[in-house]
Amino acid sequence: MCISSANDYKIALVTGGSSGLGKAAAIELARQKVAVFILCRDEISGLKTVQEIQTASGSPHISFFTADLSSQKSIHRLVDQIFKELPKLDILIHAAGTLQPSRISTIDGLETTFAVNHLASFLLTQKLLPLLRASSSARILVLSSRAEELGNIDFDDLQMHKSYSAIKSYCQSKLANILFTYELARKLEKTKITVNCLHPGLVNTNLGRNLPILIRTLIWCIRPFMTHPSRAIEPVIRLALDPQFEGVSGKYFLGTQEGKSSPKSYDPVLAKRLWEMSEQLTQSL
Ligand SMILES: NC(=O)c1ccc[n+]([C@@H]2O[C@H](COP(=O)([O-])OP(=O)(O)OC[C@H]3O[C@@H](n4cnc5c(N)ncnc54)[C@H](OP(=O)(O)O)[C@@H]3O)[C@@H](O)[C@H]2O)c1
Repeated sequence: MCISSANDYKIALVTGGSSGLGKAAAIELARQKVAVFILCRDEISGLKTVQEIQTASGSPHISFFTADLSSQKSIHRLVDQIFKELPKLDILIHAAGTLQPSRISTIDGLETTFAVNHLASFLLTQKLLPLLRASSSARILVLSSRAEELGNIDFDDLQMHKSYSAIKSYCQSKLANILFTYELARKLEKTKITVNCLHPGLVNTNLGRNLPILIRTLIWCIRPFMTHPSRAIEPVIRLALDPQFEGVSGKYFLGTQEGKSSPKSYDPVLAKRLWEMSEQLTQSL
């Protein structure tokens, strides 16, 4: 995409653009005349998804970057590429996510769910701050989940070497998303960058694709009661574009209604400790 000719456009980067909520967000942003860059894991997925989004949105202003968010080296390469191509960033949507049935170590030796769902958003956001500052008013949105209510940040076993379960690691990562959002909002208080997080509801996506067959069958049975991604993404788009949310930061939304996250998610000491730990885990690699 030729961005120099798109200076009149808002520019968005959407992680998880190849599937589910990220893809739905990219389609709707493109419909709303935003120049959209999606993040996909590889070229094949990028080319295929861009074509699908162009067809669905009728917009030619879609492109992709590739990165594996479980690898910090890959995130650094991605950032270099983004800085080469983009003059600014107006909207950053963290929609990549994973749910792993068993503990898998990333190439960096970290637990995959924590690395992809939390550390990747942490690192990518830090690195992209100069581009977000170049926008006249930038908005960051983090897709969390009400699953955070069951989450704990276990600093004694953050990487879950001692005991692992898919639910435990997912809930920990979703609580981390919210603690990160609130702490980042405090740090960005005097800037034109806002950051909010939200629970999108129970949405019919590919999130459960790695789970055991029995659980996938159960999920399949309740699919009729789940929201379609194109519907579930509406609040995200409003939070990203609607002037009503200008300057709103450090909030948790259920749809477009401001909601209350778990009491522990508001603990500033916990948020600061997680921030420092996340810095250590991303700077040392
Ligand atoms: N679905 C729900 O009901 C629900 C509810 C609450 C919160 N959420 C949150 O919404 C977000 C989006 O999830 P979804 O439901 O849309 O799931 P999804 O359909 O599985 O989409 C997840 C996206 O993340 C990408 N991704 C995963 N691991 C990656 C990696 N290592 N590197 C790069 N990209 C990676 C996937 O890419 P590939 O296609 O290459 O795998 C995919 O594009 C997640 O944060 C999830 O926690 C979802």
